[in-house]
Amino acid sequence: MPIERQQDVTPAVLAVMERTRDARLREIMVSMVEHLHAFVRDVRLTEAEFREAIAILNEIGTLNSDTHNEMVLMAGSLGVSSLICLLNNGDNGNTETFQSLLGPFWRLNSPRLPNGETIIRSETPGEPLFVSAHVVDKAGRPIAGAEIDVWHASPIGLYENQDPEQAEMNLRGKFTTDEDGRFWFRTVKMVGYPIPMDGVVGRLLRAQDRHPFRPAHLHALIYKPGFKVLISQVYDPNDPNIHTDAQFGVTKALIGDFVRHEGPHPLEPDVSVPWYSLDYVYVMEPGEAILPRPPIK
Ligand SMILES: [Fe+2]
Repeated sequence: MPIERQQDVTPAVLAVMERTRDARLREIMVSMVEHLHAFVRDVRLTEAEFREAIAILNEIGTLNSDTHNEMVLMAGSLGVSSLICLLNNGDNGNTETFQSLLGPFWRLNSPRLPNGETIIRSETPGEPLFVSAHVVDKAGRPIAGAEIDVWHASPIGLYENQDPEQAEMNLRGKFTTDEDGRFWFRTVKMVGYPIPMDGVVGRLLRAQDRHPFRPAHLHALIYKPGFKVLISQVYDPNDPNIHTDAQFGVTKALIGDFVRHEGPHPLEPDVSVPWYSLDYVYVMEPGEAILPRPPIK
């Protein structure tokens, strides 16, 4: 039947979507068309706005590179990444989870380091931080031999791959848990940083009078066969932006206890004062150990 009025378009498209061979793709495409058409009607999208939307999506594509992923930033800025994370973890969204956003800065092949080592590879400002963590299963039993990638931004607000001043793989490392499921390392206390504001996401945030900051956090990706890969971030509750994360990633389970110490370090006399310690427990859920695709090289 030929299309006569705007009301005819949606059923015509849905009839085509319904013919999708793969059942899951069919479910996604049918629902997407229903929501997309409803959205267009809801806001009564104009022709000029539609042309603008197409230009924006194309621009996001052109902004992606080996060192930058604008689409991940946009998904985070709209809360989609957080929603997908929480829907798919913690007993399918019913309980707390230690999973968090991967973010756009995980890299493969972080250098392996023995426990206790520093991840500082070039002159990096900031106060000393000693991280000590346990990796356990849902029953609290330690997971030995888990591999952990850790990474975080320099206190100047940039990851090493964004900053020619930093050594390759600065503030990144790969550790392995010992028999007690423990790993530990030394670094500098992370601070909040702004997400890149020179692209489409920046224009959106400015249009909404939003600040670009993410509260200070430590990334981890924990791999152990038999468990779902745990992608986590631990946040500093004292960060001024802890309640207004530009990427909506902060959840209660991910708040860390960064303890400030005014006296000398008991084992490392060369450590400047104040220094900080962070003790944290990562809980892994059973599942398949499938690594994500790195968002950058
Ligand atoms: Fe980050």
